[in-house]
Amino acid sequence: MTTAKLILNGQEYEFPVMVGSEHEVAIDFTKLRAQTGAIAYDPGYGNTGSCESEITFIDGEAGILRYRGYPIEQLAEKSSFVEVCYLLVYNKLPTAAELAAFEQKLTYHTLLHEDMKKFFESFPGTAHPMAIMSATAISLSAYYPEFLDPEIIDLNIVRLLAKFKTIAAYAYKRSIGQAYIYPRNDLSYTEDFLHMMFAVRTEPYEVPEVLSRALDLLLILHADHEQNCSASTVRMVGSSQANLFASVAAGVSALWGPLHGGANQAVIEMLEKIHADGGDYKKYMNMAKDRDSGFRLMGFGHRVYKNFDPRAQILKKAADDVLGALGVSDPLLEIAKNLEEIALNDSYFVERKLYPNVDFYSGIIYRAMGIPTDMFTVMFALGRLPGWIAQWKEMRNDPATRINRPRQIYTGATERDYLPVDQR
Ligand code: SDX
Repeated sequence: MTTAKLILNGQEYEFPVMVGSEHEVAIDFTKLRAQTGAIAYDPGYGNTGSCESEITFIDGEAGILRYRGYPIEQLAEKSSFVEVCYLLVYNKLPTAAELAAFEQKLTYHTLLHEDMKKFFESFPGTAHPMAIMSATAISLSAYYPEFLDPEIIDLNIVRLLAKFKTIAAYAYKRSIGQAYIYPRNDLSYTEDFLHMMFAVRTEPYEVPEVLSRALDLLLILHADHEQNCSASTVRMVGSSQANLFASVAAGVSALWGPLHGGANQAVIEMLEKIHADGGDYKKYMNMAKDRDSGFRLMGFGHRVYKNFDPRAQILKKAADDVLGALGVSDPLLEIAKNLEEIALNDSYFVERKLYPNVDFYSGIIYRAMGIPTDMFTVMFALGRLPGWIAQWKEMRNDPATRINRPRQIYTGATERDYLPVDQR
């Protein structure tokens, strides 16, 4: 299977066939327009590969997700988020010494320039924290102008990984009118974030281990997902040689959408609405099947996973474990489980291969941890940051990278002459 033949207007053309390390097959259309004058048309890019990548492999039919070849189930059980950051960004599991050195670098770059605190005050108290995350991410390029020097780029990668959680925690404190809690060098990545979120200046706060462990798991599960909407956005922006901070700020914006990372917030709002409406989840399942209802079952469906999202399976169990350990009983969890049970046996969902995705259970755990709903997508961004960075770095180091510039099929007016205003 080395070539694919195409017949267009009676002429036959041949194109190379690519086969990936997991036996995925692609037709290489790099020369399609030059050879045929035609372009491929694939709105939403559901059938289009934008790049070759060594970072993450997903098999949607088999429910497989691997970061750099390591199964998500093993990383979720045995790794830490900081170790997964290293794996994704530097393409290897670190030795103990490498991990310690990396943690040390992250620890010593958590502080923001004091001037940056003005950004948070300049937003209205009602500002959605994702607006603050995107705006503050790109502002880092004003403080750390990126040169093309690989060493500066690597330092900026560390700065972004370290400061992103400080920005997230400050955005939260700003939204509740509390004083910022500075990062602490004696805490791990997840302990430090939770301390900045929940400590107050007037009394000590010790982060419960169950919370820091739950957060590590949540961040690992969100760390990368190959060419999803936000990662593709980061690659698109970076392909123009825009700097890392600007590219990630664009990724934050793409993730915010309710069809993407914003779904975890939309899931909880949906479950709260069902709960407030007497918990009649069957009524909402019927609405989800009626396209005219305008109601969509948030947290269900996926462009790639067509049997199950392995992350949702891990999170469903984690929800039981974390809520049990915290002694929290949440009626929304029962509603979620009932919705899943019905969907797994309903032809509308089964025919369309709609199953719970990563966003369906994650919000229930964040909620039990005391994280407010409008911070859920920020938590997704915190987890996805190393994936965005790894995708950006791979794109920038790939000699095959060209500025991303898709074509179109024009369907507008054909040529016509301009009419003076008194003749229109
Ligand atoms: C993430 O790409 C990634 O990897 C993303 C992500 C990552 O880690 O980066 O995994 C994270 O974004 C997960 C998805 C979170 N979004 C949601 O939960 C929002 C609800 N889900 C959908 O809007 C939808 O399923 C998408 C956006 C996830 C996928 O959209 P597609 O692949 O474009 O599918 P579609 O919208 O064309 O739907 C196909 C059919 C349609 O019905 P018909 O036209 O065939 O009659 O399925 C229906 C849709 O109406 N459908 C749903 C549905 N999702 C799809 N019907 C009811 N409820 C839903 N949730």
